[in-house]
Amino acid sequence: MSQARIVYLNGDFLPFAEARVPIMDRGFLFADGIYEVSAVLDGRLVDNEAHLARLDRSLGEIDIRNPHSLSEWVALQTDLVARNGLSEGLVYMQVTRGVYERDFAYPPADTAPTVMMFTQAKAVAKNPLAESGAKVITVPDLRWKRRDIKSVALLAQVLAKQQAAAAGVAEAWMVEDDAVTEGSSSTAFIITKGGTLVTRPLSTALLPGITRQAVLRLAAETGLTLEERLFGVAEAKDAAEAFYTSASAFVMPVVAIDGHVVGEGRPGAHTRRLRELYLGMARESV
Ligand code: PDD
Repeated sequence: MSQARIVYLNGDFLPFAEARVPIMDRGFLFADGIYEVSAVLDGRLVDNEAHLARLDRSLGEIDIRNPHSLSEWVALQTDLVARNGLSEGLVYMQVTRGVYERDFAYPPADTAPTVMMFTQAKAVAKNPLAESGAKVITVPDLRWKRRDIKSVALLAQVLAKQQAAAAGVAEAWMVEDDAVTEGSSSTAFIITKGGTLVTRPLSTALLPGITRQAVLRLAAETGLTLEERLFGVAEAKDAAEAFYTSASAFVMPVVAIDGHVVGEGRPGAHTRRLRELYLGMARESV
């Protein structure tokens, strides 16, 4: 028998169909909120404290009070994972500025943020796409200038992902000023023919990926040379290997960019090794 889906909303664990948010919610009207996504593997949250630290930072950047301490967040997430019997997938967390009459300005002082979480079952480790490798297209980066904030305003990413789907590929890499910024929901990496791992340096132009951070650490441990610098589409197409990272894809090999085969057209050796190392790290998460 499948287990009834339970979600978290403002202090309560509720059946999915009973979790309702008023139409005046600031997230619904203005996309005025922050989200996070942590992976779950073997029933355990992966690199979760780093995700919660980014949630706290994102909320601070848009001046929403973080409604929970780190330990409260972890307790709520753990409870939700257990209530849904989730062994592999994602926990989605969202905090908006709360519910009040439509107005661009700050809400009344007593307005509580809306806090919501749900889980999704997903084959994050046992993902067949990781075996074949993903194809990507490139699209112009249409987003605002504070992409370091994990805002729920994702219209440009939705459009990019729709273009990817229409092209029959898994992801779109967004390009600005002739450089790849990041994937529509992932961080972009290449490995040059000289064996150097290249990814864009952190700035307000992209999200500081939590998986990115872990992969850079693991890559350094394996002795790969790292370069945090901009790279363009031509360099990416000419690379020996390419991949993208996220909480939902982990390390995903890229085998084609805009129809151009990357490397040998199958997941590269360094990329496969980094995925293995990441999975090993994720399985040791507590
Ligand atoms: N997206 N860049 C963007 C624009 C993203 O949306 C994401 C994650 C990443 C990778 O970050 P991390 O490694 O911390 O997951 C990079 C999540 C998974 C999503 O929107 O579902």
